[in-house]
Amino acid sequence: MGRLDGRAAIVTGGAGGIGAATARALAKEGASVVVVDIDGARAELVAEAITVSNGTAFSVRADLSDEAEAVAAIKAAVARCGRLDVLHNNAAMTESDFLSRDTQVTDLSFEVWDRTMAVNLRSQMLMCKHAIPEMVRAGGGSIINMSSGASLKGDRTRTAYGVSKAGVNTLTMYVATSHGKEGVRANTVVPGLIITDAVRAHLSDHMLEGLGRATLTPYVGDPVDVANLVVFLASDESRYITGQMIGIDGGMSAHVGSMGQDDR
Ligand SMILES: NC(=O)c1ccc[n+]([C@@H]2O[C@H](COP(=O)([O-])OP(=O)(O)OC[C@H]3O[C@@H](n4cnc5c(N)ncnc54)[C@H](O)[C@@H]3O)[C@@H](O)[C@H]2O)c1
Repeated sequence: MGRLDGRAAIVTGGAGGIGAATARALAKEGASVVVVDIDGARAELVAEAITVSNGTAFSVRADLSDEAEAVAAIKAAVARCGRLDVLHNNAAMTESDFLSRDTQVTDLSFEVWDRTMAVNLRSQMLMCKHAIPEMVRAGGGSIINMSSGASLKGDRTRTAYGVSKAGVNTLTMYVATSHGKEGVRANTVVPGLIITDAVRAHLSDHMLEGLGRATLTPYVGDPVDVANLVVFLASDESRYITGQMIGIDGGMSAHVGSMGQDDR
């Protein structure tokens, strides 16, 4: 018996990194998983691997900053699974070239700001907007939005990224407040450093070392750590948790020197 037997889950940005690990973990607990990503080919590989491991999964290609594509992804999920219980809003602009152009505010282009807001924040709003009626029809559901420790503090770079994720934190509280009595819970996951290909491509070894030092655990985060938290938030074990921001950062945010500048 899996903790999510009979449930249907959408994972956005599920083609790699944290989203792929979460898709695998949800499927392992018995959920039918719909892997949605702008990179349709990689999303299909993730779905195929789950199927080969005796899970249930399929993929949908969508640019979730576009409302029509978000609606189509949800319709495809409901058509295949017959219901929708879980939404993990994980997609974001993480490509290194793009993040390099997300600078301090005086250098920031309108285009980078707008694309960041469209993908990181608007997509989460659109997916909530169209998933919630399906969840209510299914008798309730759980939304797990993806934020970042970058939403809680300032930095000298990645202004648009940090602000978009701060919007995610607030969106979650509004969704939880509006739809709790209909049985829909919403929570935000706030990760610190999680080692993925996207992070390796964007951060230098020096920065990764600094962040590793600022992490209180003997190890830094793996996508599976986030996947385990998402499974818990998707399951009935977390039924009294809603509207919360839940940090998963090896304690990085719990002390001063948390930006990796502490050389001790
Ligand atoms: N890895 C970390 O250290 C870390 C820390 C904090 C927060 N996060 C957040 O975790 C999530 C996953 O990050 P990751 O490190 O696994 O990176 P990733 O690049 O593997 O995941 C992002 C995914 O989003 C997809 N995507 C981008 N634009 C899209 C669009 N318009 N429509 C649909 N899909 C789109 C990408 O193709 C990619 O598969 C992101 O929301 C990121 O902000 C990661």
